[in-house]
Amino acid sequence: MTAAGYITDVDYIPGFYPQLAPVAMRHVAALNGVVPPRIADGFRYLELGCGLGRSLTTLAAANPQGTFVGVDVNPEHTAATQRDITAGGLANTRVITSDFASLPADLGEFEFITLHGVWSWVAPEVREQILAAAQRHLAPGGLLLVSYNSMPGWAHLQPIRGIIRQYAVLRQGDSAQRVREALAYLLFIRERHAKYFEDNPRAAAYVDGIVKQDVRYIAHEYLNEHWTSFYFAEVAGMFSRAGLSFVGSLPVHTNFWDLCVRPEFQELFRTTTDRLITEAHKDFCANTAFRWDLYARAPRAMKSFEERVREADDIEFRVTRAGVTLPHQTNLDVVTSTVQGPLYQALLDMMSTGSRPLSAIVADPRVAGTPPADVSRAVDAGVALGLFEISARHVDTATGEPRGPYAMPNDFNRAVIASDALSGRAVAVASQLTGTGHTLGDLDAGILNELVERGEDGLAPRVGARLTAAGRSLERDGKPIKDQTEQGVIMAQACEAFCRTSLRQFLQLGIVSPG
Ligand SMILES: C[S@@+](CC[C@H](N)C(=O)[O-])C[C@H]1O[C@@H](n2cnc3c(N)ncnc32)[C@H](O)[C@@H]1O
Repeated sequence: MTAAGYITDVDYIPGFYPQLAPVAMRHVAALNGVVPPRIADGFRYLELGCGLGRSLTTLAAANPQGTFVGVDVNPEHTAATQRDITAGGLANTRVITSDFASLPADLGEFEFITLHGVWSWVAPEVREQILAAAQRHLAPGGLLLVSYNSMPGWAHLQPIRGIIRQYAVLRQGDSAQRVREALAYLLFIRERHAKYFEDNPRAAAYVDGIVKQDVRYIAHEYLNEHWTSFYFAEVAGMFSRAGLSFVGSLPVHTNFWDLCVRPEFQELFRTTTDRLITEAHKDFCANTAFRWDLYARAPRAMKSFEERVREADDIEFRVTRAGVTLPHQTNLDVVTSTVQGPLYQALLDMMSTGSRPLSAIVADPRVAGTPPADVSRAVDAGVALGLFEISARHVDTATGEPRGPYAMPNDFNRAVIASDALSGRAVAVASQLTGTGHTLGDLDAGILNELVERGEDGLAPRVGARLTAAGRSLERDGKPIKDQTEQGVIMAQACEAFCRTSLRQFLQLGIVSPG
């Protein structure tokens, strides 16, 4: 077993990425006219390079009908993943310590394969191993999601990675220590106006973001020997050799050319449908630095709205936030878009009390007269604009006033909240209704934990005491609040805001149940 130049002396950080959810991948396939794998009666899901496993385990908890397998070469990572599997009672999940060249011969086929934070960071021969694994283990009609650092967005930043890595390899100690010293050097040359930073002011500004990151993240992002950023066409060419076709990308707005390039660049989309050309054009116009691309093996095309309903009507749509009014403006990287008009008003009205499948949306009298294909396009664009959200099952958002006591029915959610509350990092909980995870801050996790464990009485002082016991305090503008009375007031506000917003949402999503 070999990590082939990938660092293993410092563990990565836990993180949940909703882009890896089967429901998200299925939606992107469907809106691009590709039949997504069915999931209602079970499916198999493989994550290559699962790291500490939080995407894998959260999605497994959200999709109990699926079977989930994670693979990682780092035994510390797989041990951490196994601890979460055990603590969460996830009988549908297993994790394997292996490099991609030595996967078990009987691994079988999967409807979903994902690899996030892997492709750009591994050796060329490991990329070949990933392609071989995709060829062997992706079921016909199956979907693969790959993320990578992309060009041209990385072009002006590549030297930063070069500076960090080249300085770090000359230092002593583990990767975390080397990173700390490399960051000090980076700041030193920037503060003294090294010519690289003078000539590249955006790179100089970029350093401010880097130094705020966890050193373990920086070590995994920048120290790997074979770090490479790719043009879309290079990656598409490699997956095409493995028999996979490009389907679409995440976030959802990147599938709508009018939402990802400015009007003056849109003519090309009217004159060509060749995705190799249009995707490259998008990346140049938007200076894309990171891509999430979806591929399929032997994709089946859906040519009509009726076919989409037949194949993917289990994806439901609901309004993201109650009380949204039109016109609604959204900023999407390089485009600012305004949603207005009677069609969107009708969609908002009909989805405001709960999620609906496309078949029910187009059958609603409020959109009579608009062709179903146009309605479904508007719904998908609404998701791209953050107006609507998708779910794997029905979500009822017309619930009344929340009333305790409260419980958290899912073992995984209870375990993850108990372990990560007030830990200083965000935590994700699973919803079997949406089929994905939902991220909350560590203070909200602390409030939720206290609420379900010991009820509402004296909630704020109890969370405050826990925070103090954890050696932490509330902060304002990045500085600890020392005054106890002020701490108490702010904690009470935080608890009240949590109960008014997140708790209500978690009740709707089945993450919390009335006790
Ligand atoms: C940046 S981390 C991403 C982890 C996880 N996907 C996430 O998003 O949090 C990359 C992971 O790939 C694993 N990895 C790198 N090379 C590998 C190989 N050749 N075989 C198996 N795993 C590998 C590393 O150990 C690491 O956990």
